[in-house]
Amino acid sequence: MRRMVVVASVKGAPGATTTALAMATQWPEATDAAGEMPRTGERPVRLLLEADPSGGDAAAWRGLSDTPGLLDLAASVRHASDPGDLIARWAQPLTEVGAFLVPAPASAARSRAGSELLARDRFAAVRASNEAATSGVLVVDVGRLGPVESSWAAAADALVLVCRGGVDALAHVAAGIEELKATASWMCLAVVGPCPYPMAEIARNLGLDRVQHLPWDPDAVDALRRGTPLRRRRGRRTLGAAMEDLIREVRRHVELPARAPRPPSVPTTGAEKGTQR
Ligand SMILES: Nc1ncnc2c1ncn2[C@@H]1O[C@H](COP(=O)(O)OP(=O)(O)OP(=O)(O)O)[C@@H](O)[C@H]1O
Ligand SMILES: [Mg+2]
Repeated sequence: MRRMVVVASVKGAPGATTTALAMATQWPEATDAAGEMPRTGERPVRLLLEADPSGGDAAAWRGLSDTPGLLDLAASVRHASDPGDLIARWAQPLTEVGAFLVPAPASAARSRAGSELLARDRFAAVRASNEAATSGVLVVDVGRLGPVESSWAAAADALVLVCRGGVDALAHVAAGIEELKATASWMCLAVVGPCPYPMAEIARNLGLDRVQHLPWDPDAVDALRRGTPLRRRRGRRTLGAAMEDLIREVRRHVELPARAPRPPSVPTTGAEKGTQR
């Protein structure tokens, strides 16, 4: 089954779309829960779906059309009797490394309508589509959290909340964190850019398993917008390296652990069998 990770913000424009784009393009391609390669014909395994009620950005960044995209997906949901992997059907190649995009239109009203249509029936078509895929990730950029966006977060396997590192931004996160923790299956915080506090201290104060710092890295953002995969650079804390850490942590929570090997069987005596009953 494909996992669903929702990326959201609470205030301002902290970098939610950038983080969602980086996550979709860097998510390891070729594994499912058991570490198996997807079979031929089952791609795409990495999808970015834009469902931001203020309108999409990724198509413009990549010089793509906004169709096929969110509105085609939302329209097709009503007509599909056996939807299969409907989301993949409306996806466009995003990079040369195998990630795909279902873009939202730039228009806020149209993007909001598309997101709301998918949220009807408690995301039945989105769930069915994810179940039809054997592996991979669907990263959903829902933009700033409101009622519909929170219902996306509740339907997801994980919520990645993105904020800046200033005291004001963190105060806004703190104000809503208990409600979000109660909503999401699992959540973590990604703090973009300079921050005066250690991440472990923020995690402790907010009661989160994980707070990941994402460095301010304009070169990496340029590369992402060109569709180039992010790379580690020697001696520098790059966005690519930080995203690897974030993705590893998210996968630890959303993917089933590989089945533990059975313990070796120990022959038992008749007397021991008796005591086990
Ligand atoms: N890690 C980063 N390093 C450098 N620049 C970044 C980083 N993350 C985001 N930015 C920049 O910050 C600005 C906002 O980013 P982005 O559009 O991803 O935010 P957003 O939260 O999706 O905003 P919106 O609410 O408008 O959709 C952009 O100019 C983007 O290039
Ligand atoms: Mg955005």
